[in-house]
Amino acid sequence: MKYKELYLAAQKAMENAYAPFSKFKVGAALLSADGEVFTGVNVENSSFGATICAERTAFVKAVSEGTREFEAIAIASSDGTAWPCGICRQFMVEFCEPDFKIISGDDADNLSVFELSELIPEGFRL
Ligand code: THU
Repeated sequence: MKYKELYLAAQKAMENAYAPFSKFKVGAALLSADGEVFTGVNVENSSFGATICAERTAFVKAVSEGTREFEAIAIASSDGTAWPCGICRQFMVEFCEPDFKIISGDDADNLSVFELSELIPEGFRL
């Protein structure tokens, strides 16, 4: 699947973001090794610390459905480009190889791509 298609899936998913407090909507589309796409959105909570990011929502959906091998994730937000927070980067380290691709941009025709090892070098593994 092309990165542009994955990003468009993230943008579409973003419509379901629940972000009444920050108003910052995020959508993610996670591509598995076998070509399946799992989407996720940020889901905020009145107890702010209970909020979950779009990226982790997508990973939790995939892993809970039995998928643990991934190629790429695209992230879209209501403010355009959005790179994953530190907790989400560490979450990716648990399941992804260092060359896992992370894609974002202001629009589908202007995407940037990083490898996981660039965004979190030496991530923690037990
Ligand atoms: N958020 C994400 O969903 N992903 C990120 O990578 C950064 C932050 C969400 C969490 C919260 O709902 C809102 O964006 C503002 O922090």
